[in-house]
Amino acid sequence: MTQHDTLWINGTLSIITEQGVAETLQTGAIACKDGLISLISPMDKLGDTPSNLATKVIDLEGKCLTPGLIDCHSHLVFGGNRAKEFNLRLQGQSYEQIAKQGGGIMSTVNHTRAATEQQLEHDARSRLALLVSDGVTSIEIKSGYGLTFKDEEKMLRVARRLGDTSPVTVTTTFLGAHALPPEYTNNRSGYLDLVCKEMLPKLHAQGLIDSVDAFCESIAFSVDEVEQVFQAATDLGLPVKLHAEQLSNSGGAELAAKYHALSADHLEYLDETGVQAMATSGSVAVLLPGAFYMLRETQKPPVQLLRDYQVPIALATDINPGSSPVLSARLMMVLGCQEFGLTPEEALRGMTINAAKALGKSDSVGSLQIGKAADLAIWDVQQPFELAYWLGGNKAESVIKAGSCIYQRPENVIF
Ligand code: NIG
Ligand code: FE
Repeated sequence: MTQHDTLWINGTLSIITEQGVAETLQTGAIACKDGLISLISPMDKLGDTPSNLATKVIDLEGKCLTPGLIDCHSHLVFGGNRAKEFNLRLQGQSYEQIAKQGGGIMSTVNHTRAATEQQLEHDARSRLALLVSDGVTSIEIKSGYGLTFKDEEKMLRVARRLGDTSPVTVTTTFLGAHALPPEYTNNRSGYLDLVCKEMLPKLHAQGLIDSVDAFCESIAFSVDEVEQVFQAATDLGLPVKLHAEQLSNSGGAELAAKYHALSADHLEYLDETGVQAMATSGSVAVLLPGAFYMLRETQKPPVQLLRDYQVPIALATDINPGSSPVLSARLMMVLGCQEFGLTPEEALRGMTINAAKALGKSDSVGSLQIGKAADLAIWDVQQPFELAYWLGGNKAESVIKAGSCIYQRPENVIF
């Protein structure tokens, strides 16, 4: 019996520590045993020949190996798409205008309500496969396009099943307070009661909720309304997070901090008071450059302030059919650098260790450390900073989940 199951040798290993420091081990080896990382070593300190150390040895020939990417903010489950609204935006209409005319989130709500659970699962699964082929090994999936008990339940069941039946670790988030459904136009408090007193406790009792989110914005819910949701979540012992300061500053990040949110997300309009509050609460700032880019926003999140106050910065796809029809996690690293001025190292931390923190999972995933899950991505680049450089293209060569290969890039182009 060998000590390790699989040993990858001659790799350029992107070691990211718990503190978030990214170091590159230029000629390194990494091994796993029973799904966990069991060895990390420079090649010249291996101490034995590779075949004596592991049952299977894979030569990376200098390629770059990172932790598997973690998408900590996604709306992966939804019905239909909003390509027509994209056209309207190209013709000059704004995201808010389209939402006010009954399009936007409500358009996806209608499609999601009309879809069967099987359809939703089928479509979400194929999007998930694309993300996996781009290095993703863990993902958060929100509800929020159902807005009735049974349709929110349907979305969360699909998300849970994706976690149970795919190799990807799925964290579910209840986003009942995403938009006010038309049935409640004149009864906001009635809808909030439904969310807080019925949906949340019942869906939690079914084991469908890992965390609770809301959309704090003038076109969605006010700080006071979100606080009711956060209080209900906290009473049930569920962690919270928030879509905050995306289109305006409404003080959502401070509220999130008050409730020790795992993260506040978007944050283009975040001010220094909000940054300070997040630093105190230890909440992660999740930046979503896909939505910023597709909505042609000009207000950028306060990256320098986040650095100054040492708020961990994560990046995510925010994949959804409206603001962010993004099918690549690595592309978010490119846009995080290009649009928000992150360094490539910050971008890599943003999709690994800091994304793990945003999900409350940094003790088990997000960095190459002995004892953590052997969730790995192997890239056909020579150095980690290239991950935030190549714009598009299928750069993940193989993706490993708990020590097993879950994706191998096909060699299907015939020259
Ligand atoms: O994260 N901001 C709110 N929710 C989503 C967009 C939802 C939609 O447009 O369908 C977001 O951008
Ligand atoms: Fe979102």
